[in-house]
Amino acid sequence: MSLESPHDLHLPVMLAESLEALNATKGGLFIDATLGMGGHSEGILQASPGNRVIGLDRDAEAIELAQQRLARFGERFSAIHTDYRQIKQSLLEKGIASVNGIIADLGISSFQLDTPERGFSFRFTDDSPLDMRMNRADPTTAADIVTHWSERDLADLIFEYGEERASRRIAHRIVQARTKEPFRTTKQLADLVIAAVHQKGHWKIHPATKTFQALRIAVNQELDGLDQFVVDAVDLLAVDGRMVVITFHSLEDRLIKQALKFQSGHCVCPPQLPDCRCGTARRVELLTSKPAQPCESELLANPRARSAKLRACRKL
Ligand SMILES: C[S@@+](CC[C@H](N)C(=O)[O-])C[C@H]1O[C@@H](n2cnc3c(N)ncnc32)[C@H](O)[C@@H]1O
Repeated sequence: MSLESPHDLHLPVMLAESLEALNATKGGLFIDATLGMGGHSEGILQASPGNRVIGLDRDAEAIELAQQRLARFGERFSAIHTDYRQIKQSLLEKGIASVNGIIADLGISSFQLDTPERGFSFRFTDDSPLDMRMNRADPTTAADIVTHWSERDLADLIFEYGEERASRRIAHRIVQARTKEPFRTTKQLADLVIAAVHQKGHWKIHPATKTFQALRIAVNQELDGLDQFVVDAVDLLAVDGRMVVITFHSLEDRLIKQALKFQSGHCVCPPQLPDCRCGTARRVELLTSKPAQPCESELLANPRARSAKLRACRKL
């Protein structure tokens, strides 16, 4: 596997805003918790000759590509094949207990989405396997879920993680279809969803978008442990250290918003409780009261950035 053209180096989302919030010109040790193709890491390394970056990713292929892209920075860059939910442990194993900045650009990379064999996209009309695992060593694929889950669980999944109103109809069709032929490819599922939601002709977003999102979240357990990740990341930040989190859908953004709010000392108890029981303490200052979003020129250059929301904080 190799990087062949500048086109392969997809544009990092909200790079300028991320570097500013990270205070990346100051020099220090930064963690890129979602290395991907190394776009944000490259930006951080370029921002100051005094910067070092450790990149984490659970996708071994992403690590390989990023290492090629960032080889010119020598020892200033290194990578760890791990889940960011292991951030504290992975860094402690390297003797690191404190860092100056952490960035997490959540979700999947363009590389994953654009590689048919990874099975993340409904765009491919060939035999792309219905896979969707970020870490190919994980045991469960999207095909396993559509093959083995009950109709009710599938409907709940597609509704909750995809926010898809036609979830029951789609789940019903899946269960009917799988008695005739096993689900193997992304195309089988995409065609089934198009038929289930009765959308013909030109659509604004592909009818299978929400169903694919729901399956991807479930396969990779993307929402589990995000709040603990924020706690661990804040633990690791040195005083005045910064954290930036970029999300791409409302479920993720809600979790990050709550977790950062809690870290900034806001009570997150349900309003009906007579007194605070969440035990919040002010550990960070929020740098974004509302999430920052990409500007028009970025959206023109990179339409995939359209749903990005950036939240940032500073350790007190
Ligand atoms: C949106 S991409 C990052 C793109 C990167 N910022 C760039 O500019 O090239 C997200 C990356 O995070 C990785 N990822 C997602 N969840 C992860 C997790 N729990 N632990 C580690 N890596 C994860 C994915 O494999 C993917 O490569």
